[in-house]
Amino acid sequence: MDLLPKDINGCPYLFLAPMEGVGDRCFRRAMASVGGFDEAVTDFLRVPTNAHVQSLAKAYEAEETQPIPLAVQLMGSDSQLMAAMAKEVEARGAPRIDLNCGCPSNTVTGRGAGSSLLKEPELLHRVAKTMVTAVSVPVTIKMRSGYDDISLFRENLLAAQESGVRFITLHPRTKVEGYGPPARWDLIAEAKAFLKIPVVGNGDILTVEDALKMLQITSCDALMIGRGSVINPFIFHQIRSHFAGKTYRGNWEDVKGYLETYIAEIPQGSSERLRINKMKQLMGFLFKGNPSLFEKRQQMLTTTYTDFASFLNFALPLLQEGWI
Ligand SMILES: Cc1cc2nc3c(=O)[nH]c(=O)nc-3n(C[C@H](O)[C@H](O)[C@H](O)COP(=O)(O)O)c2cc1C
Repeated sequence: MDLLPKDINGCPYLFLAPMEGVGDRCFRRAMASVGGFDEAVTDFLRVPTNAHVQSLAKAYEAEETQPIPLAVQLMGSDSQLMAAMAKEVEARGAPRIDLNCGCPSNTVTGRGAGSSLLKEPELLHRVAKTMVTAVSVPVTIKMRSGYDDISLFRENLLAAQESGVRFITLHPRTKVEGYGPPARWDLIAEAKAFLKIPVVGNGDILTVEDALKMLQITSCDALMIGRGSVINPFIFHQIRSHFAGKTYRGNWEDVKGYLETYIAEIPQGSSERLRINKMKQLMGFLFKGNPSLFEKRQQMLTTTYTDFASFLNFALPLLQEGWI
């Protein structure tokens, strides 16, 4: 079965990227209400060495983005625990399980997980293979191009492929590069030419043109978009529409619907300050998507608001003005 089918118009399979801290349940539910992408994935679920996998797995809810499938991303380096966790999330309905080989956070890399796995291809191979063997759903890997540098790039790709994972998503920056320099799309092309399993291209897709360019330059099998979708929640529809020979902008009603879903998902009982800060973060991205809102963005972010309603009363008309 083709894991990454194109749509009827030849549009490649589109993934919403995992984004810890930004792409949480609120965001994923709001994005699912807009749609346009084929699959979402949770931000990383950490599997520490003292993990109680049954309790941890409860954080995953397969129906969250319904009808769009939601895969799970796991981060850890203890192969037996990772396999046990994979079984737990499979039992909870996960259609796919992704191994995180990219997270740069020091509290994580300190324990040999995330991007630290890229320093040890044998460990990466062992963890992935044990997970692949433990479950019947596809296991995949999301990785950066390396830790300090790309000296182990090919070795890591091969280790991943040989472990039996079904595809690799590549964010072509090293751990050390963080999010700074432009993603090296040439490395996605290299991985694609080198590997037998499919490669999902990721990194710096902000527009339809970027998506087309990434496909052209890398010949990757599918696309994953993170920040570009927080800035512009309609990017997936826009890419899909392009392949259908149409254009799609996303009108103000669509933006409102997206924001309403997001707000409705903010946990009950959250303080006003938390609600405001959470919305500021989301709106900060949306304001970035429009040059005419650039100056207002700073004002929106730095003004102190007494309550959530007054924040919305200030920010929404500005956004609407810039959106049209
Ligand atoms: C705030 C934030 C949180 C992220 N969290 C994760 C994560 O939990 N797991 C992961 O594999 N990648 C994570 N990433 C990396 C993204 O999935 C993606 O690879 C990267 O942002 C490049 O793609 P983009 O340019 O489309 O955003 C995160 C990125 C950001 C900006």
